[in-house]
Amino acid sequence: MPCADEPLLLTPGPLTTARRVKERMLRDWGSRDEAFVRLNREVLDRLTALVGGSGMVTVPMQGSGSFAVEAMLGSFVPPSGRLLVCVNGAYGQRMAEMARRHGRQVAVLVQPEDQPTDVAALDRMLETDPAISHVAVVHCETTSGILNPLPDVAATAARHRRSLLVDAMSAFGALPLDAGTVPFTAVAASANKCLEGVPGLGFVIARREALAACTGHAPALCLDLPAQHLAMEQTGQWRFTPPTHVIAALHQALLDHEAEGGQPGRLRRYRENCRILVDGMRALGFQTLLPDALQAPIIVTFRLPADPAFDFGRFYDALRRRGFAIYPGKLTAAPSFRIGCIGALGPTEMRAAVQAVADALDELGLRLSTAA
Ligand SMILES: Cc1ncc(COP(=O)(O)O)c(C=O)c1O
Repeated sequence: MPCADEPLLLTPGPLTTARRVKERMLRDWGSRDEAFVRLNREVLDRLTALVGGSGMVTVPMQGSGSFAVEAMLGSFVPPSGRLLVCVNGAYGQRMAEMARRHGRQVAVLVQPEDQPTDVAALDRMLETDPAISHVAVVHCETTSGILNPLPDVAATAARHRRSLLVDAMSAFGALPLDAGTVPFTAVAASANKCLEGVPGLGFVIARREALAACTGHAPALCLDLPAQHLAMEQTGQWRFTPPTHVIAALHQALLDHEAEGGQPGRLRRYRENCRILVDGMRALGFQTLLPDALQAPIIVTFRLPADPAFDFGRFYDALRRRGFAIYPGKLTAAPSFRIGCIGALGPTEMRAAVQAVADALDELGLRLSTAA
């Protein structure tokens, strides 16, 4: 149960992880040792299998999730390419910024943070701008928690014969993504979101021929995906020091993911977490930013209550003392805060979180209006 010393993390990450996942980090691994090479291979094969497998390959990347996203954009978009980024939050913005830093031409399809990617507008942009070679989209835009219509975006890009690069950081392993039915070129994600491993490792799952075809594009030595892949295929080893403990923890996390029923099983738990959170918070008088139809069961944005007596800092501290860490808002427009429903958490923890919110409001002497 939650305690102030080791709070449960109701955030977009780092996330709460299971004890058995953390315990896998208690031994050291030689990076060139046969046992580690085997473990690493199994982790990569399991990741590839999560998107359906056939014709796909996983390339791991040291660092946080952004390193994997940056490696994906830098490796796949050639110097002569033009990237169209669908932006409805901070992570879409970040992709556009990365590609500009790489010196690539960038176009953006910008939408408000509470609206999903407009597929008809994407279709028009691809129709009228033949120079666009690649499209990038965020599957679940964690800024607000909105679910973007990835299958429709992918079908539109494919109809116009453009490559699709997906940032599925906060969705991978929980929301469905099948390479056999969704035509994407590459997807970036990380160990420490819905897979419930520990932070320090990202990865890109790509179509094998597309990866081979982008050799030489990457503007950075370390973030060169085809080079990373080639070295691993030839030697079984990483080019530079691998995060060995993180990979061992991810191995355990992937076994647990499978035991839970894979992606559908994980989604089921997160949906239930999200339902308990949203129902409980609404009953206390909080309002969600998004209508339920647009809300991914990953992280929920709540509007800051209009009551001038509500102070987010004091609210945060009151929850933190009760063993829960939440997150401030990241929206550019509406004042808000966020509570995550992913990580090694279930209904018991989510009910306890809602109770902690009720107790925090009492402590602050606040009673919010529950009128619709
Ligand atoms: C959709 C999305 N993309 C990218 C990132 C960046 O990941 P990191 O903070 O691990 O670099 C995040 C982090 O929450 C995210 O949610």
